[in-house]
Amino acid sequence: MTLLEPRIAPPATTPAPPPPPAGGPIDPAIRADVDKYRQQYARFLAGELSDEVFRVYRLTNGIYGQRQGGTNQMVRVKVPYGSIQPEQLEMIGWLVDTYSRGWGHITTRQNIQFHFVQLDQIPEVLEHLAAVGLTTREACGDTVRNVQGCHLAGACPHEELDVTPWAEATYRHFVRNPISQRLPRKFKINFSGCETDCGQAMFNDVGVIGVTRRTDDGTVERGFRVFIAGGLGTTPHPALALEDFTPRTELLPTIEACLRVFDQAGNRDNKLRARMKW
Ligand code: HEM
Ligand code: SF4
Repeated sequence: MTLLEPRIAPPATTPAPPPPPAGGPIDPAIRADVDKYRQQYARFLAGELSDEVFRVYRLTNGIYGQRQGGTNQMVRVKVPYGSIQPEQLEMIGWLVDTYSRGWGHITTRQNIQFHFVQLDQIPEVLEHLAAVGLTTREACGDTVRNVQGCHLAGACPHEELDVTPWAEATYRHFVRNPISQRLPRKFKINFSGCETDCGQAMFNDVGVIGVTRRTDDGTVERGFRVFIAGGLGTTPHPALALEDFTPRTELLPTIEACLRVFDQAGNRDNKLRARMKW
């Protein structure tokens, strides 16, 4: 099977297996997103939303139209800092069997994505993801993308501090936040628990690395060094340290300040020059 091979439907005689059991009650914010998606899709079908308006809305919700045209879509599911529960993996396994090609990709930035889902099936796919607490919200578009974390967070002997709660707080603070919805370009935040930087903080818009400092009274304070304006691509640029030490209480205001500067000063005329590194 090649990457561009379309979905092959299972033989009609194969009874579809039921979806795996869901978790607890659905997160009300994800519930509202799915309901809104259904509404916007209905408005698009009724001709009330233009192709362009629906395209931007769909992308902001992690649904990419595939380049070969037709109604094939790629669904990108956010997995903040790479932390996923067994029932969520079960559900994704069932979804790729039922709606995609039986497999998907775990991406460099800790999303899970799968192709060849038909546009009219997206609402039900979002519904199944919601049942296990997963969202595609802001997995694409000019938004704050999935917040990454180093892979051994919480269990690594080298870490200066466990970045898990900080990455979770950052994810929760920015997802659906009005300031993250219409940025000049996508915005990427990565966390690493120490300077080894397995979380690849050094080539992201904001890279946060766990560090310690010794205060005047000799105690050790755990906090962060925040790097900004890194990027890869055809013009790679290593990130620059914003300051030597950012106390834990200052982390979210610091990241938000970076985002606000980018929002106001970023290049809105040329998308190719719109990342912080420019
Ligand atoms: C000829 C080969 C390649 C080209 C032309 C290319 C081009 C690009 C471009 C244009 C971007 C977007 C940068 C931005 O948004 O500012 C990007 C991002 C990225 N690329 Fe590549 N790439 C290539 C190979 C690779 C390879 C081999 C890897 C990994 C082994 C890789 C990993 C990444 C990652 C992780 C990002 C996201 C980081 C970021 O947003 O700054 N790329 N690449
Ligand atoms: S960045 Fe540091 S703390 Fe995180 S996995 Fe790598 S070595 Fe461990």
